[in-house]
Amino acid sequence: MKQKNTFSKIGFILATAGSAVGLGNVIRFPFVMGESGGGAFFLIYMISILFMGASLMLTEMFLGHQGKAAPASTFEKLATHNNTLWKNIGWGISSFSNIIFSYYVILLAWIVAYIWLSASGGLPHTAADADQIFTNVRGDMLATFVSGGLIFAASFYVVAKGVVNGIEKLNLILMPVILIIFTGMLLYSLTLDGFYEAVVFMFHIDFSKITLHVLISAIGMSFFTLSLGTGIVLAYSASLPEDVNFVRSIVYIVLLDTSIAIVSGLMIFSFLFTYNGDPSAGFGLVFITLSTVFSKLGVWGEILGVAFFTSLLFAGITSSVSMIEPMLKTIHIRFNVTRAKAAVILSVPTAILSISVVLSFGGYLGDGGTLLDKLDYVLSNVLLPFGALMTTVFLGWFVEKKRVVAVLQKQLGHFFSLWYSIVKYIAPIALILVLFSLIGLI
Ligand code: PHE
Repeated sequence: MKQKNTFSKIGFILATAGSAVGLGNVIRFPFVMGESGGGAFFLIYMISILFMGASLMLTEMFLGHQGKAAPASTFEKLATHNNTLWKNIGWGISSFSNIIFSYYVILLAWIVAYIWLSASGGLPHTAADADQIFTNVRGDMLATFVSGGLIFAASFYVVAKGVVNGIEKLNLILMPVILIIFTGMLLYSLTLDGFYEAVVFMFHIDFSKITLHVLISAIGMSFFTLSLGTGIVLAYSASLPEDVNFVRSIVYIVLLDTSIAIVSGLMIFSFLFTYNGDPSAGFGLVFITLSTVFSKLGVWGEILGVAFFTSLLFAGITSSVSMIEPMLKTIHIRFNVTRAKAAVILSVPTAILSISVVLSFGGYLGDGGTLLDKLDYVLSNVLLPFGALMTTVFLGWFVEKKRVVAVLQKQLGHFFSLWYSIVKYIAPIALILVLFSLIGLI
């Protein structure tokens, strides 16, 4: 019988995939892939997902499943030595995703603005309009406060409700909706003239673009896209059902994450190439270029715009909910308070950060709206790879091997030794390279 407070198998897969599938898949992946060698980049990215990403995901799942607690207590409980140090590292790692949440929620507020613009016929018609509208959306503090505040409160509410009644339920509803919208949009883009060009842009094989940097960025991206290094998978896995098959769950999660990234790319670029949009990088790709393309399609464009930005919002919400869980669980267990109280406590510092980001875009703080970029830079380039590095080092060097063998040898069979050496040696070295490269030392 299903225990209370334990995910169902499908609930766990969808919740973890929900965390993985986010703005990164839709906004970042397609562009980086097209620019960095297309099919050649994809090959390296997939190898990195299969060997590094999946290995680290298995590591976090194993730790969470064994510790059955918040990341900090799990590290403390499972360490063979230096337990207090590891407890503190666990606290640190758990805080990373809350910092991401504080600015992610602002991006989601902008997406709400674009749903509204699509529905009300307000999408931009020219590139200059598009720039202006994007600037207006970012500077509109009232709208950002209202929709950002609602998403903020709703996300905390869902996590406070608990793993089964909150997180699992949300993902069981939103993930199928996201999959249906994406499938519909893929089918639509198949009918567009630019589809073939989109396939070529994304999958042309150009090994000459594969430099050391591209290689490292593929590895870094494979961690980011699976939400690794933040204690999220570790925290979710504390509520895994006993008889779960780790490997099978990972296969489904990786398949979902990768297919959404590819479909997003095919869809976005089919539109751009059909309607002569310029593939630009970063947020500009959807907020500026794609929204201008939608406006050329009349009523269809309005419908597509609402569908696209809504699925993006949902994908973002399932990720933002996951960002709250590690720290909320930590406070809930450490201070022995209810989840609701933990949510209230945690929401205060998080809200202060979010408000600072909004003020920064509203022209206050005198930083030209760059607080979000700075936070994102530090998180994605320094703290996440650091979190991932610590997690692999922990399993490889601070957890009794006997314990790992007892649980995973049977599931992994011949692959156990390969996985264990990846986690113990290869992944830490690769992560140190990623870290050095991202902060500009290589
Ligand atoms: N995986 C999410 C994405 O691709 C981003 C994320 C990173 C979410 C880290 C949670 C933690 O958009």
